[in-house]
Amino acid sequence: MATGSELAGRGIDAIDHALGGALRGLAEEAGFTARLGHVAILGTLGRLKSRRVALLGLGDADRLDRTRLGNALHLGLANISGRRASVAVAWNEALPAGVEPAELAEAAVEAAVLVGFTQATHRGGGERRLRGAAAGATREATTLTLAGFPRVDRLRLADAEVLAEATNLARRLVNAPASELGPAGLVAEARAAAAAGGLKFNALDAKELRRLGYGAILAVGDGSAQPPSMAVLTYSAPSRAGRRRLLALVGKGITFDTGGISIKPAADMHYMKGDMGGAAAVIGAMTAIAALKPAIDVVGIVCAAENMVSGSAMRPGDVVRSGNGLTIEVLNTDAEGRLVLADGVHHAVKLGATEIVDIATLTGGQRIALGPVAAAFMTDSPAMGDALRAAAEAAGERAGELPVYAEYEAMLESPIADLNNSPGPNASAITAGLFIRRFAGGRPWLHIDMAAPSWNRVGQVKEVPQGPAGYGVRTLARLAMRLGGERGRG
Ligand code: BES
Ligand code: MN
Ligand code: ZN
Repeated sequence: MATGSELAGRGIDAIDHALGGALRGLAEEAGFTARLGHVAILGTLGRLKSRRVALLGLGDADRLDRTRLGNALHLGLANISGRRASVAVAWNEALPAGVEPAELAEAAVEAAVLVGFTQATHRGGGERRLRGAAAGATREATTLTLAGFPRVDRLRLADAEVLAEATNLARRLVNAPASELGPAGLVAEARAAAAAGGLKFNALDAKELRRLGYGAILAVGDGSAQPPSMAVLTYSAPSRAGRRRLLALVGKGITFDTGGISIKPAADMHYMKGDMGGAAAVIGAMTAIAALKPAIDVVGIVCAAENMVSGSAMRPGDVVRSGNGLTIEVLNTDAEGRLVLADGVHHAVKLGATEIVDIATLTGGQRIALGPVAAAFMTDSPAMGDALRAAAEAAGERAGELPVYAEYEAMLESPIADLNNSPGPNASAITAGLFIRRFAGGRPWLHIDMAAPSWNRVGQVKEVPQGPAGYGVRTLARLAMRLGGERGRG
């Protein structure tokens, strides 16, 4: 790895020495520039144990952070590793002062797992076709060796591997076509993840949702032949102290969003198979949490529904009643995420949540506000805000804060009901968050709108790996670690 234009540092020197001082000449011949993510592969002429040595550029030292480091390693490994690749990452003390050995090691482990994900699940005769929607669909794992690193905590590396595997699970779920992963399929995936992690599991079917008066999620499902459902995954902290609090992670699980009667334009609608990215992040995070064991109880809630167009679909102007009794005028059937989350967040309150996080591919306005690489978060709890910032930073996932302006509450009013679901284009990401907060029962609340970073579209930002990102898994799991107060592993 190299930053700036200099190939310097003991890691580089050692390789150069083995190559009889030929490294810099070879690098120059290969056109290596140390631009972020740039890879040059050099032959080693039998002088090194490895047949080839790859140089990975990390760009300007003063502009390198955990996110860009992670992305560069991910893209770099994807570039150099074919099937069954074996890669050694060498520590180089000429890295910027901000990059600790442990961080680099962690990012390398993550990258080695993340390159195992492929979007091409239905190519080449379909032998990699999903068995049960999200199974398989990985390449051979990349074997990673960390060479010449100063002391690195093995636990942190094990955690990084867990977090990256969980991220790939979310990516597989987001990538799955809606024809293969409907609401029932998503709930089945949640059940399987719970079983694998030894978590308690419960699913509320449509009948149960009706009994509970969850009219908002039910209305979203009305247009679909597949009924909505809510999955609940429960993790219990090992210590008694951790069980005094309950962190709820509530995910939007719209397995396809046509927009409903307020139908979306055709262009790019296929991306709406990924409108369950929030739920996928919750499922992934819960599997990581089961392994990382934070000192706080955590419940994951998946709000699964399909937003379709049919004779039984909800209409603009309809009024629906959520589980907490608030009535909602549906001005736009495409603002369905906040409807399913209203009942999901209310369910978290009913389960006794002391802290509530909702996460969703919620608004186009979120992308307008922060652009393609970052999620937006909102909170009414400074403590949760601090924890989220730290968790996202450690996870290498970007999250920018949006304000909670009380003036905008008025935009949620309706002439016929307690709330409307579509206050219009101004600050639409903020008003969506404010809407959901109304169902959090006054509990400390944190909202994450991941519409933009959930899926990196081709050509949008070159230094970010393309396709489903599995956004949110690592941040949510690390948030649980932080809120649990466990030091060193968050
Ligand atoms: N699922 C969409 C938001 C979305 C857009 C996610 C693009 C990922 C990429 C959401 O359900 C939606 O349609 N939001 C509308 C709401 C509006 C009609 C009030 C939006 O933000 O445009
Ligand atoms: Mn929508
Ligand atoms: Zn949606």
